[in-house]
Amino acid sequence: HVDPTASTRLGKNVINHHDPSYNNTAKLTSNSWTFNKTLSNLIRKNILRFLDPERDISILKGTLKQGDIIHYVFDRHSTTNISENLYRLLPSVSPMKNQHHRRCAIVGNSGILLNSSCGAEIDSHDFVIRCNLAPVEEYSRDVGWRTNLVTMNPSVVQRAFQDLVSEEWKERFLQRLQSLSGSVLWIPAFMAKGGEERVEWALRLILLHTVDVRTAFPSLRLLHAVRGYWLTNNVHIKRPTTGLLMYTMATRFCEEIHLYGFWPFPLGPQGKPVKYHYYDTLKYEYTSSSSPHTMPLEFRTLSTLHRQGALRLHTGTCD
Ligand code: CTP
Repeated sequence: HVDPTASTRLGKNVINHHDPSYNNTAKLTSNSWTFNKTLSNLIRKNILRFLDPERDISILKGTLKQGDIIHYVFDRHSTTNISENLYRLLPSVSPMKNQHHRRCAIVGNSGILLNSSCGAEIDSHDFVIRCNLAPVEEYSRDVGWRTNLVTMNPSVVQRAFQDLVSEEWKERFLQRLQSLSGSVLWIPAFMAKGGEERVEWALRLILLHTVDVRTAFPSLRLLHAVRGYWLTNNVHIKRPTTGLLMYTMATRFCEEIHLYGFWPFPLGPQGKPVKYHYYDTLKYEYTSSSSPHTMPLEFRTLSTLHRQGALRLHTGTCD
C-alpha cells in the first residue's frame, strides 16, 4: 500500500533533480561527507512500500514449475518457459535472507575507475556488489576483486564472451563463473526477449561443472516496482539501470551504501576523457535515443542523495 503523502514529501525534500548545483562535482569529491542515518532509514522505509528486495531479488522454487510459461516484462507478447536447468537453479529461499551489512559497495562499470586506486577501499566493504560480470583480475588495483553479488544481463554473454562461439570463449566464460565462488549470480532472465539461449548456456555450464554460485532470477514485479518508487519521487526514469536497481535493493540490506564507477559522462570532473566501461571499448550508448536508460538523470538523483548523506558517490581517486 502506497502512502502518497509520504512519497511526495520525499520527492520535494529529498530528490530535487532540478537542483542546479548537481554539476558541482567539487562537492562530490570533497571529504566532508557524513552519513545521514535518519534519511537513509526513511528511504529504506519508502522503498519497502513498493518492493521487498529480500523477496523480489529472486523467484523461488516453490512458486513455479518446470515448463511454466512466463511473459517477458518488457516484451509482454513474447513468452519463454521455465527450462529444466532454470528450475534446478531457482533458489529455495531468498539468497539475501536475513542478510544485513554495515557498509556495502556497489561498483558500476564507468571508466572513471581507471587509475583510481580504489581497489583496496572497495574490497574493505562488508558486502560488494558488481554489475554484468565485469572483469576484476586485470583491474583489481582500481576496482578490487571481492564479489558477494554480481549481475549478468543475458547480453553479456554476447558482448563480453562472443556468444561462446569457440571452446576458448566457453572456457573464458566458465573461468569467470568459477572465479565467483560462493557469491550470488543475479540473472534478469525474464526482462526482455532474445536472451533465452544465452541464459541457458550459462546455466548448463554452472550445472555441468558444479560451479559454486548461488543463482538468483529477479521477480517479474521488481522492475516496475523500482520504477514506481522513483517515479513517485519525481525521477522519471525510462528503465532503471542495473546500477540503480542494485542501489534500490541494497537499501534493504545495507546501512551505509558507497557507489563507485558511476559516471555516465564522456568527460571526467577535471574535463579529461572517461571511457564508458573501464574494461572495453563500448561507446556512450546512453546518449542515443534508442537507449532504454536515462543514466544522466539517474546520476543527478544519486548526486543529490550523496549531498544529503543518504549514500556516498565516489568519483575521485582513493589514495
Ligand atoms: N554506469 C555508470 N556510468 C557508466 C557506465 C555504467 O554510471 N559510464 C553504471 C550504471 O548504473 C550501470 C552500471 O554502472 O547500470 C553497470 O554498468 P553496465 O554493465 O555498463 O550497465 P549497462 O549494460 O550499460 O546497462 P544495464 O545493465 O543497466 O542495462
